[in-house]
Amino acid sequence: MDKPRVLVARAIFPQVLDRLREHFEVEANPDDRIYDHAELIRRLQGKQGALTTGSERIDAEVLDANPQLRAVCNMAVGYNNFDLPACTARGVLATNTPDVLTETTADFGFALMMAAARRICESEHFLRRGEWTRWSYDMFVGADVHGATLGILGMGRIGQAIARRGALGFGMRVIYHNRSRLPAEQESPIGARWVDKAALLREADHLVLVLPYGAQSHHAIGAAELAQMKRSATLTNLARGGIVDDVALATALRDRRIAAAGLDVFENEPRVHPDLLALSNVVLTPHIASASVATRLAMANLAADNLIAALGCGPDAGRPPSLLNPQPRGAD
Ligand code: DGY
Repeated sequence: MDKPRVLVARAIFPQVLDRLREHFEVEANPDDRIYDHAELIRRLQGKQGALTTGSERIDAEVLDANPQLRAVCNMAVGYNNFDLPACTARGVLATNTPDVLTETTADFGFALMMAAARRICESEHFLRRGEWTRWSYDMFVGADVHGATLGILGMGRIGQAIARRGALGFGMRVIYHNRSRLPAEQESPIGARWVDKAALLREADHLVLVLPYGAQSHHAIGAAELAQMKRSATLTNLARGGIVDDVALATALRDRRIAAAGLDVFENEPRVHPDLLALSNVVLTPHIASASVATRLAMANLAADNLIAALGCGPDAGRPPSLLNPQPRGAD
């Protein structure tokens, strides 16, 4: 019997490609080119499955041009690049990679927040430019992290992992805003307190964004929200570009409306707004929050497990471990 055909849309670890080749005829992308929409549609012709990343948009146009497609498996926990209702309506299984990246992403979020608060990148650039000539009492004074109020917008798995670091490691007071409140047994070990969004903005010394991106969270942080924050506060975004209005943030940072920011994600990435690039009080990183060797390998393997199971192979045949649409039409 012919093996099912799959597209692996971006370069991934060779050992994970080898695993996929045991089950599938694989079209890989060793040059790691980013396919535009038309090329993605063309390359999916005749394929039953795809392993994607956030750079491939799987929408109704892609699905209608490829009615043979049965599974799309994202190597990311976020899946705003999928039109999930369109997948479900066409019986296409869609999966993501939750859990395996939670702690690594939380580590990075904490590092970014600390770098912004303690002005690590700004002071390092100063030193490298040869401008450090003497110690002085107010050189690069920043904001304390220990004992401060940590505000978290979006309290899913990664938000809770950041909250644990803050409360248990740094003695921070944790407040959060989320559509739903955590059960008391999850709130109490870290002393986390649900507050409304206005209180979160007003009270947080360090605000961290970890909510999913969608129409409802587009520009959740814009000029009006930034105006409600403390002037001494920092803002960290490791969720998705588009949650923050980058132009409004650049203005707020330039005018010292807030003290500093740490950004791992951007509107229109990989392009970064020039107003942000020009500022010294923002730490900018290229969407690498989950980028430890072990975690990226675990993400690739989980995406492969999902694809193998979704196309009816392997020990989990028919039961992909992280299915997003549990009852797609015609998938049973
Ligand atoms: C994720 O997993 O969603 C990360 O942002 C990588 O895309």
